[in-house]
Amino acid sequence: MKNIVILISGRGSNMEALIAARDAGDLPVNIAAVISNRPDAAGLETAARAGIVTHFVNHKAFAGRESFDAALAECIDQFAPDLVVLAGFMRILSDGFVRHYEGRLVNIHPSLLPSFPGLHTHQRALDEGVRIHGCTVHFVTPTLDHGPVIIQAAVPVLDGDSEATLAARVLCEEHKVYPQAVRWFAEGRLRLEGGRVRLDAGMAEGAVLISPEVR
Ligand code: GAR
Repeated sequence: MKNIVILISGRGSNMEALIAARDAGDLPVNIAAVISNRPDAAGLETAARAGIVTHFVNHKAFAGRESFDAALAECIDQFAPDLVVLAGFMRILSDGFVRHYEGRLVNIHPSLLPSFPGLHTHQRALDEGVRIHGCTVHFVTPTLDHGPVIIQAAVPVLDGDSEATLAARVLCEEHKVYPQAVRWFAEGRLRLEGGRVRLDAGMAEGAVLISPEVR
């Protein structure tokens, strides 16, 4: 069974979705550890309650990005993960860190990348007037919120949506696509090859989830 390490910075609802999928028997992985860069991340308590080893590596204790990333990698590597899963981990990662985990580092982002990398994605989607919004799971490259796309989910932007209602609609889809992407990896069906995502035959169809309202 594949070993995964999950990195969080806050609430940890995507992490919870992964734990729930594992507990339901839908995600054949060993969640070896949950690591946060913030000691007060609410998700750390949730993970501990689920019996998962937790750690925090406080970025404020380091002089620069490289030294923090080196300490973080040391913490991660003691668990020998096959896959490192960024689940609301709100840090820009150094090139060296990203290279070290090439092909085994994935992220979820609350927009249909390459639109709206960075912060405040839902408000920016509303401001632009886009009719379709969503989320993306991708392999991580040194560019922020960028990299070969594994799966996306699309939701409609409805008249009268606020940032909060749109965020909630997207989050609901995040909780479906992230376990799906990690499941593909766990089953050996997903890999990065020459900078492109390879999903085993028959799986590509599953790489987009479109809510019925968008269809
Ligand atoms: C999620 O919406 C995730 O997509 C986003 O942070 C939130 C974390 O929520 N990640 C990013 O914006 C990364 N650029 P969670 O802690 O409840 O999973």
